Amino acid sequence: MKILVTGGLGYIGSHVAILLLEQGYEVVLVDNLDNTTMSVLDGIVRITGKTPIFERLDLRSSEAQKQLFDKHPDFSGIIHFAAHKAVGESVKNPLKYYENNINSLVYLLQNIHTQKIPLIFSSSCTVYGEAEEVPINEAAAVKEAMSPYGNTKQIGEEIIRDVSKTNPEFNAILLRYFNPIGAHPTALIGELPLGIPQNLIPFVTQTVAGKREMLHVFGGDYPTPDGTCIRDYIHIMDLADAHIKSLEFLMDGKNSTNCEVFNLGTGKGSSVLEVIKTFEEVNNKAVPYKIAPRREGDVISVYADTTKAEKVLGWKASFGLKEALKSAWDWQLYIDK
Ligand code: NAD
Ligand code: WQD
Repeated sequence: MKILVTGGLGYIGSHVAILLLEQGYEVVLVDNLDNTTMSVLDGIVRITGKTPIFERLDLRSSEAQKQLFDKHPDFSGIIHFAAHKAVGESVKNPLKYYENNINSLVYLLQNIHTQKIPLIFSSSCTVYGEAEEVPINEAAAVKEAMSPYGNTKQIGEEIIRDVSKTNPEFNAILLRYFNPIGAHPTALIGELPLGIPQNLIPFVTQTVAGKREMLHVFGGDYPTPDGTCIRDYIHIMDLADAHIKSLEFLMDGKNSTNCEVFNLGTGKGSSVLEVIKTFEEVNNKAVPYKIAPRREGDVISVYADTTKAEKVLGWKASFGLKEALKSAWDWQLYIDK
């Protein structure tokens, strides 16, 4: 069976591509290399011993998408990762985000919804904002988006839901990721942040590697046990596995509604100071840090109730923070070699 993975050379897409190849799927990866490099394809080939089909194209072009679907009229499923994802940049340049994240999705849906090709869509826990209650389950309210990026995820979800209402034979799953971290256990692929990392884990690994002077812990006076924010950090391999389970769930026709939503997290919240301490323990390295002012827009505490994914998809995270932080450091060592 042939699976299309858009954004397939990106951080999450590349890890999913590996599992798909390992499980015998034929894989077509689409990427315009906006936020990645061809070296990721080499990593995928080295890990799996298989070479996926790679199509370099920009999904913002409806013509390019049409050519893709003319060339491959036989997709059994689609996992759509391609999007811009930098929250801060989206505030400065909202149109860049609306243009890519919305247009690419709309053109994709135009090609697939009448053909009933199941779709898995990358959404985010950012849709919950500061939730009333933690852990957060899928019934929690979707709050007004705090950034244009977050808004593109909410709008993306709504577009897919609307399309699924008009076409009951088109099936989709919206996956709300919490905080994906870590790398493949071989350390041959991982996250490739361009420029100064905005996310915690790449900032930690680059600081320990000596590329950044010091980690700034954004806020030490939050109403949490140690004063720092709490997140649900999920190992990339667990996250990748959930995509295969979701895809197979739809392809096997096990869904009871044609647009389902699932949280993907570990169910456990960790504070920034816990992350630092765990990193130091598992990697035997000190993390130079200081408590700095709060970062605008940060929510205090976010972690997932994963009961639904467990019951319905039969998926549960199997790795903890330790394994994820170990793999993140192994990956940093590999890219610095
Ligand atoms: P990424 O930037 O590593 O991967 C996205 C890939 O899509 C990149 O390789 C990029 O070159 C490609 N791409 C972007 N626009 C494209 C276009 N118009 N045409 C073709 N290719 C294009 O990001 P990621 O971390 O792998 O995230 C994947 C998806 O998951 C995104 O939709 C992101 O918003 C979502 N998500 C990510 C996180 C996270 O923390 N990483 C959390 C929640 C949701
Ligand atoms: C985690 C914690 C920071 C950097 C973002 C997006 C979200 C989703 C995942 C895509 C927070 C603290 C961070 C640093 C720090 N992406 N921190 N010093 O903000 O939870 O989520 O990525 O959908 O939409 O907003 O992740 O890794 O940036 O921050 O203290 O240098 O680490 O304050 O508490 P976040 P993050």
